[in-house]
Amino acid sequence: MIACDINEEWLSVAQKYWAQAGVSHKIDLRVCPAVQTLNSLLDDGQAETFDFIFVDADKQNYDQYYELSLKLLKPGGLMAIDNTLLFGSVVNVALLPEELKAILSESDIEMVKQLNLKIKKDIRVDISMLQVADGITLIRKNDL
Ligand SMILES: C[S@@+](CC[C@H](N)C(=O)[O-])C[C@H]1O[C@@H](n2cnc3c(N)ncnc32)[C@H](O)[C@@H]1O
Repeated sequence: MIACDINEEWLSVAQKYWAQAGVSHKIDLRVCPAVQTLNSLLDDGQAETFDFIFVDADKQNYDQYYELSLKLLKPGGLMAIDNTLLFGSVVNVALLPEELKAILSESDIEMVKQLNLKIKKDIRVDISMLQVADGITLIRKNDL
């Protein structure tokens, strides 16, 4: 498994639990902006080799994560994108909880909203939007 992140503080929490679970040796951690990591995987010839990709990072890059992940997934592979409802704010900005206003901008919300609209019409994929927690969209890459 390849894990992407840029924040050493959060990573130290993750690494503690990977060690406790005895899975550290299975995780290839790339401490680098994820767009760079995904592009470098493609440059290394790893297109269409991934079974599953989970996207849960900065919202401004969500469209790039979607496009690059689609290239990396095998046909029939699955992507899960977290926070696709943003507590309803993708439909009505006023629904964003007060405590999230410090970490999510209106342009973050717009980015997720536009990606939701794009994925809905995208013939490259089949989707199912799970209305659990903050919204998770499951995306299966079609074998076109
Ligand atoms: C909401 S947290 C999710 C972490 C993890 N997926 C989880 O469920 O515990 C978002 C993470 O995205 C990371 N992040 C933000 N911008 C990033 C970027 N450009 N490249 C890679 N990771 C990024 C943050 O450091 C943070 O750890």
